[in-house]
Amino acid sequence: MEYPILIPFILFCFAKTCHGDGAGVLFSTLPKTLLVAASPQQGQVLQAGEDRITVKWSLNESFQATGVDKLYKKVKVTLCYAPISQIDRGWRRTVDNLRKDKTCQFTIDNRAYDASSQSNQSLDWTIGENVPTATYFVRVYAYNSADEEVGFGQTTDAKKTSNLFVIKGVSGRHNSLEVVSICFSAFSVVAFFGFFLVEKRKNRSLSKN
Ligand SMILES: *[C@@H]1O[C@H](CO)[C@@H](O)[C@H](O)[C@H]1NC(C)=O
Ligand SMILES: *[C@@H]1O[C@H](CO)[C@@H](O)[C@H](O)[C@H]1NC(C)=O
Repeated sequence: MEYPILIPFILFCFAKTCHGDGAGVLFSTLPKTLLVAASPQQGQVLQAGEDRITVKWSLNESFQATGVDKLYKKVKVTLCYAPISQIDRGWRRTVDNLRKDKTCQFTIDNRAYDASSQSNQSLDWTIGENVPTATYFVRVYAYNSADEEVGFGQTTDAKKTSNLFVIKGVSGRHNSLEVVSICFSAFSVVAFFGFFLVEKRKNRSLSKN
């Protein structure tokens, strides 16, 4: 009885998914129009929830005459996984279709594109506590008024091998807390049995008397 009601609902869900997957800009088609620089040095190790990152970006001068950024309405500054931290982790994989891409999961900032200033735009960000231990780079996307990616820039090269930095997640500190609590529970087990043996011996010597 309920199936006839469910079927259109399921079809509707499928249609939604198909539509969502059908669209989406391909990263390989995006021009690299932005120059992006971030404060971490190659190989630097930063602590999530504590250390700060400064990101600067500007339109590459070669593109200034073309007026390509007239389309730019918004920029999104993102933190992205380097290839070494994507191995065997499907949930971080790089897909050319940006709707499905999982490379840049952390949004540092979303803001209007400032076309008036030819100077660099910049921001200061305290690394979020939800950022896990991994190797990263920074990428900035430019969006048009339809909210589609139309340009980008990143701190690393095309192969994503240079200027990578490491962030240590907050859970790294949890691990040392876990070690402490495991030590405590091991200690209490030992203490319990120790107490038990002492009591037993006491009882034995009492019953001898
Ligand atoms: C700016 O863009 C031009 C053309 O794509 C490129 O050759 C040049 O290397 C870029 N400049 C920088 C600093 O990346
Ligand atoms: C913007 O930053 C780039 C690279 O970091 C630098 O080459 C350029 O001179 C800067 N431009 C201004 C106007 O500060």
